[in-house]
This record gives sequence, structure tokens and C-alpha cells, in this order.
Amino acid sequence: MLVASNRGPISFTLGDNGQLSARRGGGGMVSGLLTVAAQADLLWVCAALSDADRTAARAAAGGRIDLDGRAGANGSAVQMLDIPPQTFASAYNGVANSTLWFIHHMLYDLPDQPRFGSEFWRQWEDFRTYNATFAAALARAADHGGANHGAADHGAAQGGGRARALVQDYHLALVPRMLAQRRPDIRIAHFSHTPWAPPDYFAVLPDAIAREVLEGILGADHAGFLCRRWADAFATCCQAILGAEVDRERQRVTYQGHVTGIGVHALGVDAADLTSRAAQADVEARVRDLTELAGGRKLIVRIDRTELSKNIVRGLAAYRELLISRPQWRGRVMHLAFAYPSRHDLPEYREYTAAVQRIAEQIVEEFGTEDWTPLVLRVDDDYARSLAAYRVADVLLVNPIRDGMNLVAKEGPIVSDRGCVLVLSREAGAAAELSDEALMINPFDVTGTAEALHEALSMSDEERSRRCARLAAAGTAVPPARWFADQLAALD
Ligand code: G6P
Repeated sequence: MLVASNRGPISFTLGDNGQLSARRGGGGMVSGLLTVAAQADLLWVCAALSDADRTAARAAAGGRIDLDGRAGANGSAVQMLDIPPQTFASAYNGVANSTLWFIHHMLYDLPDQPRFGSEFWRQWEDFRTYNATFAAALARAADHGGANHGAADHGAAQGGGRARALVQDYHLALVPRMLAQRRPDIRIAHFSHTPWAPPDYFAVLPDAIAREVLEGILGADHAGFLCRRWADAFATCCQAILGAEVDRERQRVTYQGHVTGIGVHALGVDAADLTSRAAQADVEARVRDLTELAGGRKLIVRIDRTELSKNIVRGLAAYRELLISRPQWRGRVMHLAFAYPSRHDLPEYREYTAAVQRIAEQIVEEFGTEDWTPLVLRVDDDYARSLAAYRVADVLLVNPIRDGMNLVAKEGPIVSDRGCVLVLSREAGAAAELSDEALMINPFDVTGTAEALHEALSMSDEERSRRCARLAAAGTAVPPARWFADQLAALD
């Protein structure tokens, strides 16, 4: 069994003494796949993302590393691809993050951007090379029987006698077709962890690129999405742009004689894992800190990567509007906004972080008093502090412009100490599962968001704990291991 993703389950750092040290990655996909990796022999192919990763990749025997970061793995293994830094930068920053991510999340300021000129076409060439490197590595790995090198282990890496490759996300959209051309015998699944753009927006891409992306994914036998909306948008793009035949009832797309099954596989949270982590001493200490900081006031919490799609600036504008339109909350509420660094190579992200900081400062200046800080913004990464904030939140605000799923919306209610109210954007994939119990908002409607915050703050303890319990149940319905198993079943 082969898995491919741009970011892998471990990353390396190089210490002052020249020693490499390994760190496990986080996030729903990584933790889900790690659960599977512990039980099966799988080979996880990913990109070396930094110089330290490249050093580790070169040092590893046959390029394979075990899940704890040691070279020369038996059992499940990681293979980091040592892609030339320039090729990687164009593929990751130029195409994946600045183009495909912007298209699927509809983030472009269209009067000005995008401009697909000669520089873009050069980056696209690098994106192809980067995808081809993955396809070649997967084909080679299938020859060698997945995680294990020896022919004797061949069976362990195959499902039903055929190797299976599970390719993750927009970074690797071209891989399924490239791999199928090399190895038609491999069963291939692709999974999109993002939304999928509606056809009119997808068609902003140059025609040849739009076709190549769709054809790339249609090289797979199964294409998975986090919710029905994104799956339908993909199928509609295939129909409108490629003229592919779409069978909505049987959830299949047929193109050039090849059939790709379409699947909806929601991703949820492993409740046991999360609750035990949230009970550890470092989290307890931060719960005490935050409780003291709040001083008995109600807490509105938001936790995001500083990411354009997360809509942090409008969220803060809604909090400001709440303090103006409902002045009774002044001095009685505090907003904790934990916005962690993300993709700082891109100027848009650096500017966005600055915009978040500007509006936060304005709010503190405008409303703060000697004994009340209305808003605390933190832009450094502290996972234990995030878990503590989930635990003490009265209201959790999750208001993305667009989001594939959004696991914050699921995690918060699961570890909440007193039951929190979830204010949730209807544009998050999680809305499909949580909309009955959350207070739903249009993320562009600042006034509507302010009103939802007021309603959430005013909700009775009884109602909020009832709703929170149902949100927690919905959030744990599909733990990552099941999400993975469902995809395998659909592929087979
Ligand atoms: C989010 C998205 C994933 C994506 C990931 C990449 O988590 O939901 O679809 O793969 O970002 O993040 P990165 O930090 O690797 O660019």
C-alpha cells in the first residue's frame, strides 16, 4: 500500500551540532494515516521540504526512513523525495499554493489577479516535473512491494493482489494519470482535502491547465472528497470542461473509456486521542492561565492558521461590531484569537497576517480599558494552548470563506469543559455534518456574524451543553482510521 502527499508525517531539523532530529507532523490527514501505518505495511512517499529533510533523505538507506525518523525502515516507512529546491519552490509556492489553492478557495482579487504569463508557464513545467517525480517513485515502490524491499514481502504491500496508491491533495493532482500510464495494474485513489471550485471559477485557469488538472485526477480509479458539495463541483467541472460523461446516480465519471468512481469521505476526529492529549499537564497549566486571564468573563475563541481562507479579519470585524451594537458585552467578554504562522513565503500571507494584527490593535485601542482587554491575538504556534482554549471556550468561532472540512469545528466541542456554542460558516465542509447544532453564518456577512456571536453568548447553559454534546458526537463519527478504511473499501 502506497500513500503520497506533499507534506509527510515527519520533518527534520538540523541542530547546531549538525545532528538531525525528527518530529512527527500533525493534522487530521497525518494522524489518520499514522494510525493505519502502525497496523499495515505502507510506504508513504512525500517531499523533502527543507534542507534538513534533504540531508535526511540522502542519508537514509534507499531513501527510506521509519516513522520515528530512523534510516533503513522495516515495516511502514517514509520515503522523502529529494526534489531540487528550485523545482520544489515553483511547484509548491507558485502552482500549488498560489494557484490551485487560490482557485479552490476562490481567493483571487479578480480585477487584478491571476495573470497567467510566461513565469506561470515555467512554474507549471516544474509542477509537472515534481508530480512526475512522485509518479516515478510510486511506480518504483510498487515494483519493490511497497514498504518492504524483498520479493518475499510482496503480498504485504498489495490489496487483493494489486498494489494500491492513495494520492493526497491538489499538490499531486497530476500524479494519478502519470502513474496509471506507467503502471496500469496499480489501483489508484486521489483524495482532495480542499473544496473544489465551481466550474465558472475553475475556468479562470488557462484551458489547457484546467484540462490537465481534471485529466490528472481522472487517471485515478477513485476520487474522494470531504463533502458532497466538493464532489459535485468536481464532477460538474469534468462535464463542462472535458465533456466527460457523469453518472450522478452511480457516482462515476467516464472519460476516454476510463471510469473514475466519485466518493464522499468525511474526516472526523479520534476522540480518545484528542481528549487524552487535552488532559495532559501542559494543557492543564494553560487552562489555568487562560481562566485567570478571562477573570470570569465569557470567552469567544478562534484558532486558525493565518490563512486567507480562514476569514480572520472579517471575524474580528464582527467582534468589533458586536461591541458596538451590543454594548452590554463590553467588559463581560474576551476574544482569544490564536492565529498560527502559515506559508510565509507568500507575500499575500505576510500581508494578511499584518492586516489581522492591525485590526486587532484597533479593537484593543478602541474598546480596551484599564481593567479590560477585549481581545488577545497570538500569532505563535502552541498546540497545548489551543487545546486549553478549546476547553475553556464559551463560543467557538469558525468562519472560513471556504474550507475543505475544518477540524477546529469538530475538535472544539469534543474537548470543551462546559459545552461551547459553535458559530460556523456555511462554507466549511464541516457544515454538512454540524449545521443542525451550530449557529450557521454567511462568512461575508459581518453583521450577521456579530448577531450570531450575541446569540451564542446569550444561550442558556442547558441548550449549549445539549448542542455541544451532539456536535461532539457528530465530530467523532468518522475517525481518521475509518476515513481511510472507507476510501480503501471504495477503491476495491
Ligand atoms: C491544509 C489543507 C490541506 C493541505 C494543507 C497543506 O491543511 O486542508 O488540504 O494539504 O493545508 O498545508 P501546507 O502547510 O503543507 O502548505
